[in-house]
Amino acid sequence: MQYRRLGRSDVEVSAVGLGTWQVLDVRGREEEARHEVVRAALDAGVTLFDSSPMYGEAERVLGDALKKYGRDRATVATKVWTSDDREAERQIHDALSFFDGRVELYQVHNLVAVEKRLDMLEELKSEGKVRSVGATHYSRSAFPALMDVMRGGRIDFVQVPYNVADTAVTREVLPLAAELDLGVIVMVPLGSGRLVRNAPSERDLEPLREFGVETWGQALLKFVLSDERVSCVIPATSKPERARKNARAGDPPFFGEEEREYVASLARRA
Ligand SMILES: NC(=O)c1ccc[n+]([C@@H]2O[C@H](COP(=O)([O-])OP(=O)(O)OC[C@H]3O[C@@H](n4cnc5c(N)ncnc54)[C@H](OP(=O)(O)O)[C@@H]3O)[C@@H](O)[C@H]2O)c1
Repeated sequence: MQYRRLGRSDVEVSAVGLGTWQVLDVRGREEEARHEVVRAALDAGVTLFDSSPMYGEAERVLGDALKKYGRDRATVATKVWTSDDREAERQIHDALSFFDGRVELYQVHNLVAVEKRLDMLEELKSEGKVRSVGATHYSRSAFPALMDVMRGGRIDFVQVPYNVADTAVTREVLPLAAELDLGVIVMVPLGSGRLVRNAPSERDLEPLREFGVETWGQALLKFVLSDERVSCVIPATSKPERARKNARAGDPPFFGEEEREYVASLARRA
């Protein structure tokens, strides 16, 4: 696994992290099985785990898994997501209790009440409970607003969508992130599962073997990670074996332009 510095922050993250939307939003008997996904990811060298109070039970389930399998090995990225100040305090209080009193990377989810939320997160940073502060948005219509926040100098990193079928961030957001030395966490690297539904044949993947690619999922993750402006991708999965295989996409070597174009052509045919 390659580890990359998250922009100008002093935090290092694994090139492949783990997303928790839907896959850790479980209760009761299913929880232990999902703890095993977190364990598999940790054992494969994943350090970054992304969650949000918007993802139902996911923060709590992630926190329980990390308590069992190694909170100290993890860099937790979660979010605050509300325009209500009291609710924001509650979300932060809950997250700090799930994650042993600290959240390494705290993000303003979907830019909701962004300046007020950054005030709160900066205070947590000054208290040593947070190491780095960021902002996220999933929609390209919000990129101009996100770029205003990036230019404002209060955040160290962004979380945005980027995959072989959606490269909108490459036009303005990633160039700005590079110029300002901001980290980039990539959500939805597998198109929320759509891009992995139809895999190309083993033969089609043959030219990518020398890059360590064994699965179509790894090819898609490596496509994104081969863009040097990206710090980390956070594919979600409910299956330990997939967490292990996805993590291997974080091993060098990464693709050049020719291989990226080849993966894009396979995706267009799939
Ligand atoms: N800030 C935001 O607005 C925002 C929005 C969306 C997402 N996110 C974050 O980004 C993370 C990732 O995005 P996402 O969950 O939408 O989608 P994703 O990671 O692009 O895709 C996840 C889906 O792909 C499947 N999958 C994973 N690895 C696979 C493999 N190797 N082969 C085949 N299928 C595979 C999973 O199903 P199985 O469970 O069956 O493996 C799951 O359904 C989220 O979990 C969340 O943490 C943030």
